[in-house]
Amino acid sequence: MSLQSLETQILNQISEAADEAALEAVRVAALGKKGSVSERMKSLGVMEPEERREAGAALNLLKDTLAAAIAARRQVLQERALEARLAGEKIDVTLPARPQQQGTIHPVSQVWEEVVQIFGDLGFAVAEGPHIEDDFNNFTALNIPPEHPARQEHDTFYFTEKPDGSRMLLRTHTSPVQIRTMLAEKPPIRIIAPGRTYRCDSDMTHTPMFNQIEGLVIDETTHLGHLKWMLAEFCKVFFEIDDVRMRFRASHFPFTEPSMEVDINYSREGGRLVIGEGDSWLEILGSGMVHPNVIRSGGHDPERYQGYAFGMGLDRLAMLKYGIPDLRAFFEADLRWLRHYGFRALQTPSLAGGLS
Ligand code: DAH
Repeated sequence: MSLQSLETQILNQISEAADEAALEAVRVAALGKKGSVSERMKSLGVMEPEERREAGAALNLLKDTLAAAIAARRQVLQERALEARLAGEKIDVTLPARPQQQGTIHPVSQVWEEVVQIFGDLGFAVAEGPHIEDDFNNFTALNIPPEHPARQEHDTFYFTEKPDGSRMLLRTHTSPVQIRTMLAEKPPIRIIAPGRTYRCDSDMTHTPMFNQIEGLVIDETTHLGHLKWMLAEFCKVFFEIDDVRMRFRASHFPFTEPSMEVDINYSREGGRLVIGEGDSWLEILGSGMVHPNVIRSGGHDPERYQGYAFGMGLDRLAMLKYGIPDLRAFFEADLRWLRHYGFRALQTPSLAGGLS
């Protein structure tokens, strides 16, 4: 076979090698010790010097050509192999990490959303205030002056004294949001303020951190009848019952006059609470007509403006509605508890779609 056709044949084999192993086999068959090109080199020994020089140069040229072609082909094959591997190992980082949904909505979050939905539908806006409050908003402006006995009832967490002798505190109720809202807005005011509150207290039904929801309506005409209707309406929708028997008990809060505590009627069937009927009563909230001193602290004229306020425990509402016996479990982050009492994510409560 002429050198020319040998070259053509091997170059074809090189370009047809499908992977690095095949290419290596072609290289060994041509340039290896017993390869076709190496065999020809051996034949140089028996040639005349003149002939040998010429044939030797031609063979060396062939060796170089083949080596270059092999190197080029190897590069192509390596790149192709890398691409194939990258394609095979590709992961879509936008896919959800866990195919099954694992998390649940905490009962407090669920009830929070339910309550906001209901009052939102009744025309209330949501207001907020800071958890770290001053004495004025948490007590004094709510008609609880420094020596008032109500201060002892709130087991307040205080911060260390400032140089001027004042102390910040963790708000003991959501009522300071009443003051902040009145100072910031002109009547008519119609807000709810859900949020965390803090008291130094812990047993089956008390935790140092808990959640309340405050309500405040201030305008020129709102009276106690409006408050009663609105609370009854709230209870019916929240507990998802047609009628609820409620008891308005005269009570006392410094920031309302008159003040009422509201109980709802319930019975126990088996281990379950049935809300709205029966012969037992459960206190669910405090309320009343906003005290003139509070309206004045909020920057408005009590001769002109009036309204009502109420405060409820959100955690308490969750315990009642979903039959959860121990409040402390709410904040223990026990996965088994969360799976049992939690709600499916993405199923947000709405009046149209269902609350719970
Ligand atoms: N702030 C009261 C508490 O934490 C609850 C409360 C009672 C709020 C009566 C009110 C109200 O707005 O009118 O115990």
